[in-house]
Amino acid sequence: ISLKKYNTFGIDVIAKRFISVDSVYQLQQLLKKEKNIFLISGGSNMLLTKNIEELVVHIDIKGISIDRENHNDIYLTVNAGENWHEFVLWCVDNNYGGVENLSLIPGNVGTCPIQNIGAYGFEVKDTITKVEALEIKTGKLVQFSNAECNFGYRNSIFKNEVKGKYIITSVSFQLTKNNHNLNTSYGAIETELASKGISKPTLKDISDAVIAIRKSKLPDPKEIGNSGSFFKNPVISKQQFLELQEKYPTVPSYKVSGTEVKVPAGWLIEQAGFKGKRFGDYGVHTKQALVLVNYGNASGKEIHHLAQKIQETILQKFGITLEIEVNVI
Ligand code: EPU
Repeated sequence: ISLKKYNTFGIDVIAKRFISVDSVYQLQQLLKKEKNIFLISGGSNMLLTKNIEELVVHIDIKGISIDRENHNDIYLTVNAGENWHEFVLWCVDNNYGGVENLSLIPGNVGTCPIQNIGAYGFEVKDTITKVEALEIKTGKLVQFSNAECNFGYRNSIFKNEVKGKYIITSVSFQLTKNNHNLNTSYGAIETELASKGISKPTLKDISDAVIAIRKSKLPDPKEIGNSGSFFKNPVISKQQFLELQEKYPTVPSYKVSGTEVKVPAGWLIEQAGFKGKRFGDYGVHTKQALVLVNYGNASGKEIHHLAQKIQETILQKFGITLEIEVNVI
């Protein structure tokens, strides 16, 4: 079958064999027979450049359960196949706080820990208590505590030491029921709330603000194929940053530590002249240069080629190495 509708980039590659699984038991049975599998979940963080020879396993395990709650907090376990944004909206509706800044991020709950999704001053690691996963080799269910996940900026153990060895089946969260720890300090959120005259925002106000900001900058994968930020924001030394700032006084930055600074890749790519550039059916998004897009029938190879061209140009122009954030297959 074609995997076009299973990846948000909308790349048309073929899976020779495909199966959708809706329970951990079904997955365990499958793993007894098949070890050579290719996992697909929300398909929102991958660029497919070739047909898939392995058995493609679509993780479609649904359900949310409440593990326990007290006056202030609620502990939930959410199965891997739940859509992330629908989960966020469900939390907002129930007045469970902690994930509202992560509204409208594409993908499923089961993949949110892998790259530790983050936006508008917030990362999902701050609400995750544990991750449950099946070990592919043994079919055993194991748990990773928050600390064991080794979370970092767009990073976790699932992208490193145990990459390809586990299938995440559920993620557990601790969310607030009262005294929400609202995170509105991100400039764009402040501006959006102020424009609506909101001074004491609710979870829904924040979620709505994030949705409005994202819709104004990021392409909707249903309309234009994309995988969100294609690159990570590079971290450079303070020394290198000061030199950059001398040449480009308006360069934006976020402080990482006393010696390191993060520079928005989108800004670098825009300065290099790529923003809004279109080549045939693919290109760089018009409103956010960090996002590569498929206007219809682009191939994964074409988009990967563009990404490499951008990397080379940024290295030459700024001496900065851009790291690709999405998984190139
Ligand atoms: N900028 C430009 N040109 C551009 C894009 C951005 O000059 O084309 C400048 C902006 O003006 C701003 C700065 O770069 O000064 C930062 O831009 P923005 O707030 O849009 O955020 P970002 O650093 O580009 C990161 C995440 C996004 C997340 C936003 C908001 C990464 C790789 N990306 O982007 O995550 O939504 O912050 O918090 O860290 C994703 O991972 O898929 C994603 C969309």
